[in-house]
Amino acid sequence: MYRVTLDDPSDLDTWRTTARALLLADVDPRDVAWQEDGLFGGDVLPPPGDKRLAPVPRAFLDLAAIVLTHSDEQRHAVLYRMLWRLTHGEKGLLALATDDDVAWAYACAKQVNRDAHKMKAFVRFREVTTEDGSVYVAWFEPAHDIVRRVAPFFVRRFTGMRWSLLTPSRTAHWDGTTLTFGPGARREDAPSDDALEDLWRTYYASIFNPARLKVDAMRREMPVKYWKNLPEARLIPELVRDALPRMQAMVEKQATVPRKKITPLQKAADEAPEGSLAELRRQAADCRACDLWKPATQTVFGEGPVDARVVVIGEQPGDQEDLAGKPFVGPAGKLFDQALAEVEVPRDRLYVTNTVKHFKFEPRGKVRLHKRANAEEQAACRRWLAAEIDRIRPKALVCLGAMAAQAVFGASFRLMEERGRWIELPDGRRAMATVHPSYLLRLPDPAEQERAYADFVRDLSLMRDLLV
Ligand code: URA
Repeated sequence: MYRVTLDDPSDLDTWRTTARALLLADVDPRDVAWQEDGLFGGDVLPPPGDKRLAPVPRAFLDLAAIVLTHSDEQRHAVLYRMLWRLTHGEKGLLALATDDDVAWAYACAKQVNRDAHKMKAFVRFREVTTEDGSVYVAWFEPAHDIVRRVAPFFVRRFTGMRWSLLTPSRTAHWDGTTLTFGPGARREDAPSDDALEDLWRTYYASIFNPARLKVDAMRREMPVKYWKNLPEARLIPELVRDALPRMQAMVEKQATVPRKKITPLQKAADEAPEGSLAELRRQAADCRACDLWKPATQTVFGEGPVDARVVVIGEQPGDQEDLAGKPFVGPAGKLFDQALAEVEVPRDRLYVTNTVKHFKFEPRGKVRLHKRANAEEQAACRRWLAAEIDRIRPKALVCLGAMAAQAVFGASFRLMEERGRWIELPDGRRAMATVHPSYLLRLPDPAEQERAYADFVRDLSLMRDLLV
């Protein structure tokens, strides 16, 4: 029996190095005891044999990275058993949803993702004044070791602030340029009150909409254990008590405050699923958020590098995309490829996806006639697009056609007036819209088609500078 101790039990690289050494030495999972602290020391790893390791699917490593942050002490052993099976003749293991190990790992990943979601929603920073200016400090008690997974989200959200995120098992610190991690902290290390809280409470009371009050849903989404760290939680009993009279007053009074403009994609970001791009693809394959999945062959998810600088967004897959399970492979895709070649932008540097991920059609004899997805279908699908963009974090978005442009910029966007130039989005990214290649294919007059194609190529050439 090998007793293995991991210095950093929730880190993928640490576990992977050890698991690899065990695998190379042909150590059966039943002969390994994984221990989280080094109190009893560990055994020296066996010398590697002369074997070559079979490749391991990227999806397994993505899954392992999440599962390792779970608090269950069995995780190292289960993941090693899965790795052993994957490399010993069970290549398709991850597709066996009913397998005990696979089901367990996905359930853990779901719990971790949910914990991360809660942390993003319920962390509240409090201002602390130091000699070097303000630092914002937050205390949170996650169920799993998720600080390293979630900290980049706070970097993106609070890039311009200096902050520290404290939890019992780990801390994260951002000084405006560098993110560092440290050992766990105590509740007393974080301040519990400051002037910002009054502001925050006023803000919360003003955005609280009594007409939307659902106490059960609030408890579910904001479990009571988080309330003690939330300044606004103190207001909840009072707001709940006053909800009915306030709602009646609202109904009697006409709304006078203009609604803040928020793009459809921003709205969808709130319900964007968690998980890596590979997990999103898997989840989207079973999406039932609208009925388009029923007659379609499959979900057509986006394709391209996970770190692409540019995400290109089309409208919805066509007949050939539906059969191939890949975006832009039919006639519109061929024209798109031709234009990309003209502007010397390799398609494999782009992440190419669609606003709607299922083919919508009307059967006519043997032919399936393309039908435009309606507003509800577009809205139901937007969470996937929001999640893809969130995971890839591109510099820029390129929208092909009005459906994509309106998802990104809002319903009032006028494609022909605003096409062909970069526009800054509220999140600081740029986006540009141009016509859809199938619009070019539909133009009846060849001279007009040629002109429109030249404009399309010119628009796409704006991407080039972003890729150098
Ligand atoms: N049109 C699109 O918008 N997307 C595709 O993938 C194919 C055609």
